[in-house]
Amino acid sequence: MPNIVHVVGTGTIGEPLIGLLEDDRDAFGIDEVTFHKRTPLRHERAKVADLLRRGATLAVDEGAVDGFREIGLEPGLDAREAIDRATVVIDCTPAGNTNKAEVYEHADGPLGFLAQGSEYGFGKMYARGINDEALVRGEDRFIHVVSCNTHNIAVLIKSLAFDPDGTSHLENGRFLCMRRANDISQDGSFAPSPTVGGHGDERFGTHHARDAHGLFATLGHDLPVFSSAVKLNTQYMHALHFSLVLDREATVDEAIDRLRANPRIALTYKRSANQVFSFGRDHGHFGRILSQTVVPFETLTVRNGNELVGFCFTPQDGNALLSSLAATLWYLHPDGFEDRIDVIRPYLFREV
Ligand SMILES: NC(=O)c1ccc[n+]([C@@H]2O[C@H](COP(=O)([O-])OP(=O)(O)OC[C@H]3O[C@@H](n4cnc5c(N)ncnc54)[C@H](OP(=O)(O)O)[C@@H]3O)[C@@H](O)[C@H]2O)c1
Repeated sequence: MPNIVHVVGTGTIGEPLIGLLEDDRDAFGIDEVTFHKRTPLRHERAKVADLLRRGATLAVDEGAVDGFREIGLEPGLDAREAIDRATVVIDCTPAGNTNKAEVYEHADGPLGFLAQGSEYGFGKMYARGINDEALVRGEDRFIHVVSCNTHNIAVLIKSLAFDPDGTSHLENGRFLCMRRANDISQDGSFAPSPTVGGHGDERFGTHHARDAHGLFATLGHDLPVFSSAVKLNTQYMHALHFSLVLDREATVDEAIDRLRANPRIALTYKRSANQVFSFGRDHGHFGRILSQTVVPFETLTVRNGNELVGFCFTPQDGNALLSSLAATLWYLHPDGFEDRIDVIRPYLFREV
C-alpha cells in the first residue's frame, strides 16, 4: 500500500506543512501528498499553483469544482475520496473537531488523524520530544498536536524541572505568554496596543498551561502550572516569561547546561523578537526555526535558591510543524523514523 499523507487546510499551518512534506517526500518515505482547499480564491491561486508545481495533488469539495476550474486550478481528487485513500490525514483548520465528528470518525481507510492547537479534545495530546512514549500503536488513531506556546512551556518544564528518568521537581510553574497579534501571513486581528487576556480556567489560567498539563498527564503527571496571556502589537514572534519553582536547589549554570543538552532548544545572545525572527528568515526552513524554543540565556536568574526565572521566544509555528511531521512518520513507519528526520535537523538550531 502506498503511503499517502493528506493535509486539510492551506492556511498558516497547512501551507508550509504541505510544502515541507512534498519537498522531502522521499526522505520521509511518503509516496504521495494530497491537500484539501475549501474555498476557490483568486488571491490564493498562486499558492495552490505552486504546491501543485511541487508535486502535491489538490482535493476539493464536490460543489467547489467549477469554482476552482474558473480560476484556472484543476482539482485532482474529491475531498471525501482523498480522505478515504489517505494513510494519514493532518487537519490544519480551526474545525478539526467538527471534521472529526462529521467525517473522520466514519472513514475506515486512514491509520491516523492529526489536528492542531485549537482543537482541544481531538485526541491524545502530543509534542515531539515531550511524550513520544505515550503514543500507543493501534490505540491512538486521533492525535492533537498542541499549540506553539504549549510546546514552548512543555520543553522548558521537561528540560529544567525533570530528571532524565522522568521524575518531576516542579513545585509551581507560572508562564506569561506575550503573543504576537497575528501571523505575517494574516491581515485580520491585528492588535493596535497590548491587549490583556482573562483567566477563564480557575486552575490553569489560560489554555496554554491547561494543555501543557494535559500533555504531561499522558505520562502520568499532575503538574502545578498556571498561565496568563497578553497580545502585543507585533507580528514577529511570541515571547514567554517563565518562573519554575523547584523542590531542589537550582543554579543558572546548571540550567544552561540542561538547556544546551536538549537538541530541540536553541540558545541565543539576541534579546529581541526582530533579531530572532530575522535569523529564521535567513537560515530557517522557508524562514522557519523548527526548534521548540529560543532562550536568551543571559536573562536566566535564580530567586530564593530554587526558582528559575527567565524569558524565551516561541518560533511561531515551527514546533507544531515538526510535531505534525513526527506524528505522521510514527504512523507510517512502525519500525522507527529517526533517520528520516535528518533532512530537517539542520533547522533545529542549537544557537540563534
Ligand atoms: N497560526 C499559527 O501560527 C498556528 C501555530 C500552531 C498551531 N496553529 C493551529 O493550526 C490550526 C489552523 O490555524 P491556521 O492559523 O493555520 O488557520 P488559517 O490560517 O485561518 O487557515 C485555515 C485553513 O483552514 C481552512 N478551513 C477552515 N475551515 C474549514 C473547514 N470547515 N473545512 C475545511 N477547511 C477549512 C481554510 O480554507 P479556505 O481558506 O480555503 O476556506 C484555510 O485554508 C488551528 O488549530 C491553530 O490553533 C496555528
